[in-house]
This record gives sequence, C-alpha cells and structure tokens, in this order.
Amino acid sequence: MEGIGIKGMILFGMLLAAVAMLVWGLMGRKPFFSKVKIKIKDNRIVSINRGKSLLIGLAEQKIYLPSSCGGGGSCGKCKCRVTKGGGSIRVIEKSMLTDEEISRGWRLGCQVKVKGKMEVDIAR
Ligand code: FES
Repeated sequence: MEGIGIKGMILFGMLLAAVAMLVWGLMGRKPFFSKVKIKIKDNRIVSINRGKSLLIGLAEQKIYLPSSCGGGGSCGKCKCRVTKGGGSIRVIEKSMLTDEEISRGWRLGCQVKVKGKMEVDIAR
C-alpha cells in the first residue's frame, strides 16, 4: 500500500493551517500578521505588525527610540509614554522605571508588545 505521498502531506498541512486559522478567528483573535495603528503624540499614525515590540515596530517606520542594549531591557534608553493601550507593565520594566514614571505611563519601548491600538508619546 502506498503512503499519502508528498502532495497528500502538503494538502494535509494546508488543511491543518486552514482549520487553525478558522479556530483562531472563532476565538475572536486578530489575524497573526495584521497591522495595528499606533498614534504618535505628534499626530502621526503608523501601522505596525501585531506582535512586534514598540521599539522594533517604530524603527521599521523610521521612528527611532534610543537604545544601547539592542532591546534587551537593560539600558532604559527606549523609554516612551504609552498613553493608551500597551497592556500590563512587565517586571523588567518595573526594575528600570521609577514609580512616578510608571504612574505617568512611561514604558520601555523594547518590552511593550504591540497587540492593539495604542497612543504613544515619544517626546523626551
Ligand atoms: S532598548 Fe535598552 S531597555 Fe529598551
């Protein structure tokens, strides 16, 4: 008896991917590679791929936050104010920011994952 062959395996893989995407959509999740609009305080609006860090996403739009650790969360130079969205602050950010900065919305751009619409102030 012959196996399913390479074509069968490819078709099975495509079917599996289609089912995974359908289930993902039924769960109300946004598509994996969709863009998210980020409003910069200076009235620019940029689209960034969902799941990227703010630091990388903005850099891809030629908006550069300072960084000397390459996004590792250890230099604290990528600070920016997230005024809407951005999710919960991470432990690594708490170690680099003062309580006052945190209360005013300061975050580390390298640690903020872009998951939904956000408003960001990159002015220093
Ligand atoms: S790039 Fe260094 S802490 Fe974010």
